[in-house]
Amino acid sequence: MWHEAVEKNIGLLSVLIVVAISFGGLAEIVPLFFQKQTTEPVDGLTPYTALELEGRDIYIREGCNTCHSQMIRPFRAETERYGTYSVAGESVWEHPFLWGSKRTGPDLARVGERYSDDWHRVHLNNPRDVVPESIMPSYPWLNTATLDAADPATKMTALRLLGVPYTDKDISNAKKQLQSKSEMDAVIAYLQQLGTVMKNKR
Ligand code: HEC
Repeated sequence: MWHEAVEKNIGLLSVLIVVAISFGGLAEIVPLFFQKQTTEPVDGLTPYTALELEGRDIYIREGCNTCHSQMIRPFRAETERYGTYSVAGESVWEHPFLWGSKRTGPDLARVGERYSDDWHRVHLNNPRDVVPESIMPSYPWLNTATLDAADPATKMTALRLLGVPYTDKDISNAKKQLQSKSEMDAVIAYLQQLGTVMKNKR
């Protein structure tokens, strides 16, 4: 009997399991490539400025994303605490995604404009100065490190290749925007825009 043959042959069984699962995967995943909701930017989304982009790279370099997610799930407990849940259209120009799921600290997807620039400056310099019980590390070197932005234009040109709609003007102005800025300025600029596009939506 063919069923017995499958059950007794582990190789054949594995192949058939993979085939069966792929059908499920295809049916779930492939339609997403064609749905506007998952491929088009939400209204009002703008690409990162050169300064925000540098800030994002420092955020990754410092491993902020290992403690902070940027993904609010559509549950009441999450939306009450953080704000509107995350949607795919916010992330269409994110390379790489920083969604994450591990939260040693709070989710940051909607942290933009929640605190003043000065609050962030004090907090990143030493979190205990504003949140006494905080276990977040201090990042004092961001204050004094000037941006190592040898060629922000190259970065933006690469992102443009991936579909981020930078204009020639954005790219030619990039270097000027970073002059006399510290790494701290860049990280704060990045944090302050997080989720602002979703303000007043839904
Ligand atoms: C070891 C884990 C850890 C790392 C790494 C970390 N954080 Fe945090 N972060 C926390 C914790 C815990 C809190 C909550 C206490 C506090 O506010 O300090 C927090 C709070 C925050 C807040 C306030 C969020 C809110 O809604 O109140 C911001 C903003 C923030 N972190 C940004 C950063 C940035 C930027 C970096 C990287 C430079 C970073 N964090 C790295 C653990 C971490």
